[in-house]
Amino acid sequence: DIKGFVFDLDGVIADTSVYHSKAWHQLADELGVAWSDDLAENLKGVGRMDSLNLILKTGGKENAYTEEEKEKYAAKKNTNYLSLLKNMNASAILPGISDFLKTLEENDYRLSLASASKNSPLVLEQLGLAKYFEKRVDPTTLKHGKPDPEIFARGAEVLGYKPEQCIGIEDAKVGVESINAAGETSVGIGDPKILHEADINFTDTTQLTLANIKAAMKVGEH
Ligand code: BG6
Ligand code: MG
Repeated sequence: DIKGFVFDLDGVIADTSVYHSKAWHQLADELGVAWSDDLAENLKGVGRMDSLNLILKTGGKENAYTEEEKEKYAAKKNTNYLSLLKNMNASAILPGISDFLKTLEENDYRLSLASASKNSPLVLEQLGLAKYFEKRVDPTTLKHGKPDPEIFARGAEVLGYKPEQCIGIEDAKVGVESINAAGETSVGIGDPKILHEADINFTDTTQLTLANIKAAMKVGEH
């Protein structure tokens, strides 16, 4: 039986993946690396330094900077990101998410957060959603980023549940891979062509309801 839900944050709970994208786009321009939709997609779910490395690699500049310079660029991106967050409020919560979280609470499911973002506590507070998440995986304590199963495996563990008792929810391809590798049921939010490995796919958060998940899991049993 499903007892827990392990959530990604950016692009699932809130519209913040757009802010991350904007901030990286700005930095890519500064570094002279061409921005593209593919690059934006590949950056979803990827941690801060890994994201910068991916941008540099895309531009053939992987050896152009010292570690110290890279730290400065990563910090600069975060400053940009934080300034975009300043005016963010509950209106950035994606459609249907508040109701979904309430329903999960009413039905005694327990929730943890498996976001790669170091800013996730701040974002949840600012959105007024921190109360729903009993536990959070601290990404600074992880050895590997998504698609490695570590973060989603930990998301179940912190709740005291086995992976098979948990559903993981993600908008990034690497995130769905992480959920699957951890042995949880994966719900992908977004383009089914990109998220084709998800056990259950919804094109957007308005379809993310407990009833829809239950219906999809029943179909999967046969
Ligand atoms: C993920 C986002 O949740 O967190 C990525 O999808 C982001 O876009 C990553 O790069 C790391 O976030 P932060 O806030 O620690 O730089
Ligand atoms: Mg995400």
